[in-house]
Amino acid sequence: MAREDTSMKFFIDTADISEIKKALSWGCLAGVTTNPSLYSRIGGKLADFEAHMTKIAQLCEGLPVSAESTATTAEGMIEEGKHLASLAPNIVVKLPIGEAALEATHALKAEGVNVNMTLIFSAPQALLAAAAGARYVSPFVGRFDDIGDDGIAQLGTIVSAVKNYYAPEQCEIITASVRTPYHVTQAALLGADIATVPLGALEKCLRHPLTEQGLAAFEADWKKVTAEA
Ligand code: G3P
Repeated sequence: MAREDTSMKFFIDTADISEIKKALSWGCLAGVTTNPSLYSRIGGKLADFEAHMTKIAQLCEGLPVSAESTATTAEGMIEEGKHLASLAPNIVVKLPIGEAALEATHALKAEGVNVNMTLIFSAPQALLAAAAGARYVSPFVGRFDDIGDDGIAQLGTIVSAVKNYYAPEQCEIITASVRTPYHVTQAALLGADIATVPLGALEKCLRHPLTEQGLAAFEADWKKVTAEA
């Protein structure tokens, strides 16, 4: 089914169960990331949130599944984080970087809860998150590109800074806000541990015009072979 030990791991960035099932069927999925926007996009309701996250975690047994806290205080993040983590052993608590999140990360780590620090846009943010005990840091690439900056260059700085000090067993870098196969290639070349990719971009990664051209030629030639038989 799914692999856990790939060099650069592929996560899927979605809250859509059918998309997760499709990516799982490929045998190369190593985790799932969600956020409030992704949950909203599938029409998710507050009353169903915990059951939905539990369903994803059970579907992806043994793989990290990030469920984001929407609390705004450290106390709230700690309480919600502990609760989310209690839903399934593979749930990782996602927190948006900030003072409250650093405090909550430190406390949650002490309780054995893994944190994925999100909305990372700079090396100091990533280093502070890792120092507070975040198991994952999620630098966003596409949103830098959206404002005319170079998301991959920014990712490179963050990867170099974090990898100077942290082994993957301590803190892994999840390349997030991935939109294109180019982002995936560059994340791999930079040595990011993980890329979390929406299904559409994963499908784009799979395709290449020369593959399609080659397949059409194989099929046409095989028809000649079978016609001669
Ligand atoms: O993992 C974070 C990701 O969901 C953000 O992606 O495309 O909204 O920038 P995007």
